[in-house]
Amino acid sequence: MSAPSLRARAAGLGLLLCAVLGRAGRSDSGGRGELGQPSGVAAERPCPTTCRCLGDLLDCSRKRLARLPEPLPSWVARLDLSHNRLSFIKASSMSHLQSLREVKLNNNELETIPNLGPVSANITLLSLAGNRIVEILPEHLKEFQSLETLDLSSNNISELQTAFPALQLKYLYLNSNRVTSMEPGYFDNLANTLLVLKLNRNRISAIPPKMFKLPQLQHLELNRNKIKNVDGLTFQGLGALKSLKMQRNGVTKLMDGAFWGLSNMEILQLDHNNLTEITKGWLYGLLMLQELHLSQNAINRISPDAWEFCQKLSELDLTFNHLSRLDDSSFLGLSLLNTLHIGNNRVSYIADCAFRGLSSLKTLDLKNNEISWTIEDMNGAFSGLDKLRRLILQGNRIRSITKKAFTGLDALEHLDLSDNAIMSLQGNAFSQMKKLQQLHLNTSSLLCDCQLKWLPQWVAENNFQSFVNASCAHPQLLKGRSIFAVSPDGFVCDDFPKPQITVQPETQSAIKGSNLSFICSAASSSDSPMTFAWKKDNELLHDAEMENYAHLRAQGGEVMEYTTILRLREVEFASEGKYQCVISNHFGSSYSVKAKLTVNIPHLTLPFPTFHSTKLRFLVICI
Ligand SMILES: *[C@@H]1O[C@H](CO)[C@@H](O)[C@H](O)[C@H]1NC(C)=O
Ligand SMILES: *[C@@H]1O[C@H](CO)[C@@H](O)[C@H](O)[C@H]1NC(C)=O
Ligand SMILES: *[C@@H]1O[C@H](CO)[C@@H](O)[C@H](O)[C@H]1NC(C)=O
Ligand SMILES: *[C@@H]1O[C@H](CO)[C@@H](O)[C@H](O)[C@H]1NC(C)=O
Ligand SMILES: *[C@@H]1O[C@H](CO)[C@@H](O)[C@H](O)[C@H]1NC(C)=O
Ligand SMILES: *[C@@H]1O[C@H](CO)[C@@H](O)[C@H](O)[C@H]1NC(C)=O
Repeated sequence: MSAPSLRARAAGLGLLLCAVLGRAGRSDSGGRGELGQPSGVAAERPCPTTCRCLGDLLDCSRKRLARLPEPLPSWVARLDLSHNRLSFIKASSMSHLQSLREVKLNNNELETIPNLGPVSANITLLSLAGNRIVEILPEHLKEFQSLETLDLSSNNISELQTAFPALQLKYLYLNSNRVTSMEPGYFDNLANTLLVLKLNRNRISAIPPKMFKLPQLQHLELNRNKIKNVDGLTFQGLGALKSLKMQRNGVTKLMDGAFWGLSNMEILQLDHNNLTEITKGWLYGLLMLQELHLSQNAINRISPDAWEFCQKLSELDLTFNHLSRLDDSSFLGLSLLNTLHIGNNRVSYIADCAFRGLSSLKTLDLKNNEISWTIEDMNGAFSGLDKLRRLILQGNRIRSITKKAFTGLDALEHLDLSDNAIMSLQGNAFSQMKKLQQLHLNTSSLLCDCQLKWLPQWVAENNFQSFVNASCAHPQLLKGRSIFAVSPDGFVCDDFPKPQITVQPETQSAIKGSNLSFICSAASSSDSPMTFAWKKDNELLHDAEMENYAHLRAQGGEVMEYTTILRLREVEFASEGKYQCVISNHFGSSYSVKAKLTVNIPHLTLPFPTFHSTKLRFLVICI
């Protein structure tokens, strides 16, 4: 019978068998047990009536004990005295416990680290969490020469001042105390052994320089403190650190080089802080970083060269921040990035090449942003993401899907467009995604005209019905009907309520200082109110000088035509760019072509024609 099944039975049979199992159960604790000992030897082991015995464990927890049960049996290796009312431990009651290795005294009423007498020297684990200890006095700990794990969480320790004694500690937990200040070098005596240090839920407001000289440390936790600023070189001396957690501190400023020296760190968690910017400066030196968690901050800017040192990054979480734009340099250099979470920001602007170079990206989460025209108008905003499997666009402001919206996403398996009030989808918008397995779509805003005829059949052919809940808003006759309940003949083009561009703005070149205008018109059969906007280089012109008017189209009866004129006065070189009009009504937006404006110096003022060559011109091509 294997050891685990013996133990399982022991639990069923209760105390009677505990002595017999004393040795078998130990086989899992470091190979100290010797299976096959004559059971007679073990059977002599007594078990105090107030406690439970299981393997080498004497479990006296939750018995409301105010004193140790005596005598404690000498065989005990693991002693659980947690959740009692002990305020004092009589060292002499333990002196015969030669096998004792682990002692749990958590959730008692101890006011100091107890003196356990000579057995202290053999103890490897001591849990004192949930007591009333106010300070760590070196003389109380120095006997614990074998101690590897010390848990002092949930006590009342407020200062870390007199250096921690030299022990062999690997795991030190000081969570949920009242630590406000730490003396530099406090942990130095643990430099050779300490692997994990937890200081969560304290009141630390600053980390002094040279605080941590712990070259073996792998995990450091400082969540829920009050660290507002992190100076450069703060974590120097932690060359082996793999993960650092600093969530919920209210960090507002990370100085340049804040994490310098953490050149082996793989995971950095900074969620729930008040950071506003991602810069190369504070990421400096994080050469091995694989996961960066920055959810729930106030980040509104990613500087162009931010990722220069973090080329190993594979997961980046920026959810719940204040990003409004993703520029073409926002993710530059992250060629190993696998997962990018930007959900719940305010993203409305995505540059043509924002995702350029993310050649390993598998998941892109953009849910609950303000994305509209990136999908509606741009060609191939996602081109280059040829490994992408999941694209989440749930909860944006996308109203129409054009044929080219998802160009380049050849590996896509999962596309979530739910919770967008989508009105139109051009035929074959998804046809190049040969691997698509799930398409999530729910809209009750569809314009069910002849252009949508393809959709119900295509959804059915691909077995996507269970993810698609789509009903018509227009024409009146079909309002509220599911697209699957409309026969193919029902999708007709009697009218065209969505604006259609009839006059495109034209490319121009102008003399510096002159005035000019762009003209753009659209027609619609609907009388729903029309709105007009102009964009320059894909960005909305907020205080553009516009003239808009409506007129009945000459031929075509009831159809209204709408014209918008953009006036540019005294143009500068800075006025150069691509201008585009956007005409929208309740049924969607139409985007004109992008008309280019070039500005020249009048030839007369210079001896020969010239280019203002200081201005670099890029031909934007995403790879
Ligand atoms: C410590 O453990 C060793 C080995 O089990 C044992 O011989 C020794 O007596 C123990 N020391 C004390 C003080 O119990
Ligand atoms: C913790 O210690 C402070 C003094 O340092 C004391 O005022 C407070 O009552 C103590 N709290 C508990 C829960 O013991
Ligand atoms: C961030 O700062 C604002 C005001 O500056 C404050 O109200 C908010 O509580 C801070 N957030 C955190 C997580 O500290
Ligand atoms: C679409 O689905 C989302 C959840 O995926 C839901 O919250 C939303 O209410 C749905 N909208 C409509 C119009 O059905
Ligand atoms: C589809 O969405 C409508 C609301 O928009 C909802 O009432 C209905 O239950 C949904 N149907 C399915 C199958 O989810
Ligand atoms: C451009 O417009 C401004 C403002 O309306 C006007 O004062 C100026 O004379 C115009 N310039 C030219 C060259 O027409």
